[in-house]
Amino acid sequence: MVKTKTQYVCAECGGATPKWQGKCPHCGAWNSLSETVQAPAGAHRYAPLAASTPVRSLAEIEARELPRLPTGLDEFDRVLGGGLVAGGVVLIGGDPGIGKSTLLLQALASMSARARVLYVTGEESAEQVALRARRLGVAGEGVDLLAEIRLEAIQAALAEQQPAVAVVDSIQTVYSSELTAAPGSVSQVRECAAQLTRLAKQTGVPIVMIGHVTKDGALAGPRVLEHIVDTVLYFEGDTHSSFRLVRAFKNRYGAVNELGVFAMTDRGLRGVANPSALFLSQHSEQVAGSCVMATQEGTRPLLVEIQALVDTAHVPNPRRLTVGLEGNRLAMLLAVLHRHAGVSTFDQDVFVNAVGGVRIGEPAADLPVLLAIMSSLRDRPLPRGLVAFGEVGLAGEIRPAPRGQERLREAAKLGFGTAIIPKANAPRQAIEGLEIWAVDRLEDALEKLR
Ligand code: TYD
Ligand code: MG
Repeated sequence: MVKTKTQYVCAECGGATPKWQGKCPHCGAWNSLSETVQAPAGAHRYAPLAASTPVRSLAEIEARELPRLPTGLDEFDRVLGGGLVAGGVVLIGGDPGIGKSTLLLQALASMSARARVLYVTGEESAEQVALRARRLGVAGEGVDLLAEIRLEAIQAALAEQQPAVAVVDSIQTVYSSELTAAPGSVSQVRECAAQLTRLAKQTGVPIVMIGHVTKDGALAGPRVLEHIVDTVLYFEGDTHSSFRLVRAFKNRYGAVNELGVFAMTDRGLRGVANPSALFLSQHSEQVAGSCVMATQEGTRPLLVEIQALVDTAHVPNPRRLTVGLEGNRLAMLLAVLHRHAGVSTFDQDVFVNAVGGVRIGEPAADLPVLLAIMSSLRDRPLPRGLVAFGEVGLAGEIRPAPRGQERLREAAKLGFGTAIIPKANAPRQAIEGLEIWAVDRLEDALEKLR
């Protein structure tokens, strides 16, 4: 009998060790190793890759503009960088029930008029998919459906049907019978994704893989999936609101941080072409603790309301909590506020929230966050029609943000009258209807609002 060899694979980084350990020796994650059967080297699986190409000079190689296959859903095409690319592999992740299957089914239905499309479902039965298609009001005539989870059968179907696009829903359900590890395990997911990617590259068929997300927001199982594929998209947004954001995290064929905005309706996802005012809440009167920020998501400016609540702490360790913003940055900003503006919050709980379930990663949120905090602390609303952006440095300086002009123009378009911005972002030409307060220190910004 052949003795099977096992190894331990880390769910975080995909690193392998021969022995079980509490901590992954590669990335340092705790309790992330799981036992998998080591597959025999099986050289034949990689045989198609073995064909060698000669070394050439970079200048000799013709750089063609890649032909794009637009999905027909404008917001989705925007995040993809203009559409799917031949042989490109897209991984789309998101919480369960956020709308991944809905979006891809809509995209396929829209493309089916122009091209042959294949939807491989491993999660739901063919009947469930048909039911969803009916709810979405898509005819589904041009959409080929395959309910299958065996990798080899999916590969065979792709070879036989020769679709122009294929969707695999989801990559975690697919398993290869060449491996003995359980479906959904790290080694299965990694191997299946790699095989499908290889197939896409060979045949030029773009493949979209749907992936699950763990509790803390990473694509379940191996991070390694992210570097196998060409494009990684994440579905964001809070399931309680109807808005859904699709964000590009990695894109070999387009810009990252591009954002597609959708609204979930009873007939599926509908693109929101002009989302800039989506994340403002409607107050009939100005309230304390609220500041509107002009942020920039990819190529598009977006206005988001930042809310802060500062309240007396009743425990020795006051709480600092953020929703939709970076948590560690809040503590840093409060320290800057103390040192450079003399405002202490050591006995106060501070909560900060970005309205509408949007996530803001850019440091230009610093100034609006501090203005909202000051407003809540003094219980005094900011002036009506005020918008702000700017990074706050540890020395109390206000640093510029990229694409300041576009942010300001968008704010003016939506009727904002005053903008507190970094001095380096001050526009050379006046923007109609917008009064600019350019500041280069935090103290100046607070002084202006006194
Ligand atoms: P789904 O695409 O199944 O999510 P995922 O594949 O990411 O798990 O989305 C399911 C959710 O979307 C479900 O809660 C119902 C809702 N939905 C609508 O509101 N309208 C619709 O037309 C459809 C098809 C789904
Ligand atoms: Mg689904």
